[in-house]
Order: sequence, then C-alpha cells, then structure tokens
Amino acid sequence: MVADAQADPSELCEKSELSVGEVASRSGLAVSALHFYESRGLIASARNAGNQRRYPRSVLRRVAVIKVAQRMGVPLAAIAEALQALPAGRTPTVTDWRRLSARWRDDLDERIRTLTALRDQLDGCIGCGCLSLKVCPLRNAQDALAQEGPGPHF
Ligand code: FES
Repeated sequence: MVADAQADPSELCEKSELSVGEVASRSGLAVSALHFYESRGLIASARNAGNQRRYPRSVLRRVAVIKVAQRMGVPLAAIAEALQALPAGRTPTVTDWRRLSARWRDDLDERIRTLTALRDQLDGCIGCGCLSLKVCPLRNAQDALAQEGPGPHF
C-alpha cells in the first residue's frame, strides 16, 4: 500500500477528496499542524467508511489563506472567527480574501505603529536602566499615574 504522502501528484488533481497526508504534502504543513487546525475549527474533514479523515479539495485554498494570515501576524482565533463568519463555512473566495486581507492589513498597520512607537521610546532607555516611574516612558507609559492625581499611588 502506498502511503498518502507519497501519492502521485497527477492523481491529486483528479480527486475531490484528499487524505490528511495528501493535504500535508500539497500544503507543506505537517499532519500534526492540520490536526491542530482542525481542533481549532479552522478546517473540517469527514470520515470515510474506514474512519479515515477526508478533506474536500477546497481545504488547500483554506490552508493557504490560514498560512498567509498567520504570516501577517493574525492570531489563529481571529482567523477561525473570520472563516466561520463566511456563509456555510465556505472557503474564502477572491472577494472574501480581498475583504479579509484589507481588514488584517489595517490591524498589521496598527501593530506596526504601536511597535514603532515602542521602539522609539526604547531608544531613550538603552544604556539607562533606571526604570523610573517618573521619567521612564516604558515603565510608566503615557504617564498613567499622573492621571490619578498627585501624591503616592503605591
Ligand atoms: S530605563 Fe531609564 S528612562 Fe527608561
């Protein structure tokens, strides 16, 4: 018997359902990663008569979307939420992808702004080490204690 991961690639083009090994081979993910995705509701499979997982071919596009979103730094829970919001749990279409990626790009831009500001604040702390509540912008971000009024707060 030929292992799933060693299936002839030309045969995969014809099949409407794929084993977990075939999905792993085509997507470049480990079988364990696919099982993890499934446990988190990101992908779904059905069981065949032999109780083996079978995935629709569309899972390959779904996995590609998940991988790209992860590279953008989108948390898995947010990816799962976005995919579950699609009608009937469909695999993202081109239009779906445009909408999702635009939203995730906005999130990425916001993270970049936050990290850039943090890096700029860190410049003043390099070589200092005081971690003072009065003067250190990292220790007392945006001077939160000053908004609680004068006097000790600890
Ligand atoms: S460590 Fe001294 S200003 Fe931040």
